Amino acid sequence: MSYVVITGASSGIGYESALAFAKRGKNLILVARREQKLNDLKSTIFEINPAIDVVVLTADLSDSEQVHNLYQRTKGYELETWINNAGFGDFAPIADQDLSKVENMLLLNNVGLTILSSLFVKDYSSKEGTQLINVSSDGGYTVVDNFVTYCATKFFVSAFTEGLAHELRSKGEPMQAKVLAPAVTETEFAYVAMGVEDLSDFPQTRTAEEVAQFMLDLYDSDKVVGLVDETNQFNLKNPLHPYITKI
Ligand SMILES: NC(=O)c1ccc[n+]([C@@H]2O[C@H](COP(=O)([O-])OP(=O)(O)OC[C@H]3O[C@@H](n4cnc5c(N)ncnc54)[C@H](OP(=O)(O)O)[C@@H]3O)[C@@H](O)[C@H]2O)c1
Repeated sequence: MSYVVITGASSGIGYESALAFAKRGKNLILVARREQKLNDLKSTIFEINPAIDVVVLTADLSDSEQVHNLYQRTKGYELETWINNAGFGDFAPIADQDLSKVENMLLLNNVGLTILSSLFVKDYSSKEGTQLINVSSDGGYTVVDNFVTYCATKFFVSAFTEGLAHELRSKGEPMQAKVLAPAVTETEFAYVAMGVEDLSDFPQTRTAEEVAQFMLDLYDSDKVVGLVDETNQFNLKNPLHPYITKI
């Protein structure tokens, strides 16, 4: 009995991805801070498929101690896939940034993700059928005006995960490391990043359900990157950041 872990499962892309994996009969470990939302999702999944085991674990993943503690709490389960999806953005010119928000963003988007990725790789990289999927952004490949620090956090996610994919392949390890890079998606993201609830000014907005399907497409493929590009098309690609094996 193995599990798919999804961080940031209480809303948006993580929530819809949990439903999508549940429809495939995957046991799930759902992580976020809002326990009630995770329990509501667990009830919804029970209605879809009562045979699935769903475990709810709450943690603030911008706190390194809670990040390590979360990983320890998953130790009693056999894991198949770990999806680091929890993340948020901040919309401001650099001089006007709220530095406590920025610090939390770096801690969550980068520090928490790196710790969880590393622990999972250490324990599971030699296990056949395992995957690590880290959620970046189209902003992890192109810097966007007024989203510079957020994009830099996502460049880190893309570069770290692509580099890990190269490393795993060169070592002949069976684990696959992948990057999902969505573009504008209708979730709580815009409200958290810039206080905007109405996304009608962004006609190319995808639904979280569509992005969850992209997540499954990436999960099913042998490619490393699943990117919503500048033409709003979802494409599965080989790593995009330059990479060299020797310095
Ligand atoms: N929506 C977009 O336009 C878009 C585009 C490109 C990439 N992305 C990326 O997609 C991922 C998912 O975002 P989303 O769009 O689905 O946004 P969302 O609806 O705001 O979901 C974010 C999730 O992260 C969790 N989270 C936030 N802070 C956390 C913390 N400190 N500890 C633990 N969990 C935390 C939230 O849960 P709690 O609040 O319950 O903790 C929530 O479940 C993010 O990495 C985001 O950067 C989004």
